[in-house]
Amino acid sequence: MPAFSASAPGKIILFGEHAVVYGRPAIAAPVGQVKAKAIVTANPKASDGEVHIQAAAIGLDACLDDLPATQPLAAAVRGVLAHLGVKHPPACSLKVTSTIPLAAGLGSGAAVSVAVVRAFSAFLGHPLPDTIVNDLAFEVEKLHHGTPSGIDNTVVTYARPVYFVKGQPIETLQVARPFAVVIGDTGIPSPTKVSVGDVRKAWQANKAQYEAYFDSIHGIVDSARAAMESGAVELLGPLMDANHGILRKLEVSCEALDALTLVARRAGALGAKLCGGGRGGNMVALVAKESAEAVAAALTKAGAVRTIVTEIGK
Ligand code: MEV
Repeated sequence: MPAFSASAPGKIILFGEHAVVYGRPAIAAPVGQVKAKAIVTANPKASDGEVHIQAAAIGLDACLDDLPATQPLAAAVRGVLAHLGVKHPPACSLKVTSTIPLAAGLGSGAAVSVAVVRAFSAFLGHPLPDTIVNDLAFEVEKLHHGTPSGIDNTVVTYARPVYFVKGQPIETLQVARPFAVVIGDTGIPSPTKVSVGDVRKAWQANKAQYEAYFDSIHGIVDSARAAMESGAVELLGPLMDANHGILRKLEVSCEALDALTLVARRAGALGAKLCGGGRGGNMVALVAKESAEAVAAALTKAGAVRTIVTEIGK
């Protein structure tokens, strides 16, 4: 039997993280420079029903039956088996690799789930359509993040810029004029579950104030959408700055993220913000193409452990 493989890109949230958990829209885009990959190969020597899972980056090397329901890779595989009504899959090995940094706000969990669901369903002879891949990856996201909006799995599944509202049909964004961004990694782990949980506690304690913050973010997201669709890219910089300001009020930024956003602006970026859960992980800066390398170099000099230059809407 041949090997079945699938890959899925990383993602960045350009506008609207956290508020998106509370029904406001957000805009996200795939980052093709980093990828998760899953390969499934038949293992005729093993007994029927045995699924061996290997993911060196997280030190996983185990049989599906020995993994708990909360293990995300096992959950992705079990989701496919349940959806297809397969009780005893042919014995096989599933190998997962990824170049997407873990817990960095770049959607590594979602990308791994999407790649596993695609490769494993193809191995079983029933490659699943994107809608189902997205639904199954969302179920796994709940294990990672508690109360996710579903934006990560959606942008990673469809691999296109999206205007996303929780629970609504996917809307892909038409970017009239592609634009460049530089992504900079603080190197500090960003556990989304924790920041999302803290925002929820703060929202519960002060609903009026937090709803007002989320409404302001909603306005920023809609302005950003209009700017992207009309090609008024220069408007996106100040909108990123404004979005970062509100994320600071939500207390999901940190010294390193504030410092890197400032360094990016000083090095010529048109605007910058944290992206994803925050408290660490990555920031994103809008740049003119010709200043991308200078901004990336300034971020590295200021302590970013990795930078990625990517073009949105290309
Ligand atoms: C995580 O990439 C984005 C958050 O808005 C959480 C979510 O939407 O599930 C922080």
